[in-house]
Amino acid sequence: MVRYVESLENITARNLRGFFVGWPNPPSPATHLKLLKNSDHVVLAIDSVSGNVIGFVTAISDGVLSSYISFLEVLPGRQRQGIGQELMRRILRRLSKYYMADLICDKPLEAFYTRLGMRAATGMIVRNINRQSGRDQD
Ligand SMILES: CC(C)(COP(=O)(O)OP(=O)(O)OC[C@H]1O[C@@H](n2cnc3c(N)ncnc32)[C@H](O)[C@@H]1OP(=O)(O)O)[C@@H](O)C(=O)NCCC(=O)NCCS
Repeated sequence: MVRYVESLENITARNLRGFFVGWPNPPSPATHLKLLKNSDHVVLAIDSVSGNVIGFVTAISDGVLSSYISFLEVLPGRQRQGIGQELMRRILRRLSKYYMADLICDKPLEAFYTRLGMRAATGMIVRNINRQSGRDQD
C-alpha cells in the first residue's frame, strides 16, 4: 500500500534511501531531507508498511505567479505503478493557484507530462556538476 502526504512529519534521513539514481555526485539522504524542507511544496509517496519514502516531488515558488517543479523521482523498484503520475497530479493541483508551473525534462518524458495536461516548451539551463551533491550547503 502507498500513502501520499504533503508534509515531512515523522520523516528522517533514514526514510530517504535510494534516490538520485544515476547521479554522479548525488546528495546524501540528510541533504535530501534539507531540500525537501526548504521546498515550498512537497508531496511524498510512502510505503505504508516500512514508512519509507518511495517517491517524491518538490516545487519552489515566488508565492504570486510562478512555480517550478524541481524534482520528481520514484524508486526504481516501484516505478511503472502509477506513483509518478499520482505525485504529479497532486503537486499540479497545489500549483494550480499560480499562473505558471514549469519543469525541465528529457524528450522521452514529454508524453508522461502531456498526459497530465502540461505542454512542451523550450527551456534553457545551467548545471554546476561540482555543486550537485549540495555538500557545501550542509
Ligand atoms: C519519471 C518517473 C518519475 C515516472 O514515475 P513512475 O511512477 O514510474 O510513473 P507512472 O507509473 O505513473 O507512469 C505512468 C506512465 O508514464 C509513462 N512513463 C513512466 N516513466 C517513463 C519513462 N521513464 N520514460 C517514458 N515514459 C514513462 C508510461 O507510459 C507509464 O505508463 P505505463 O507504465 O503503462 O507504460 C520515474 O520513471 C523516475 O523516477 N525516473 C527517474 C527520475 C526522473 O527522470 N524524473 C523526472 C525528471 S523530469
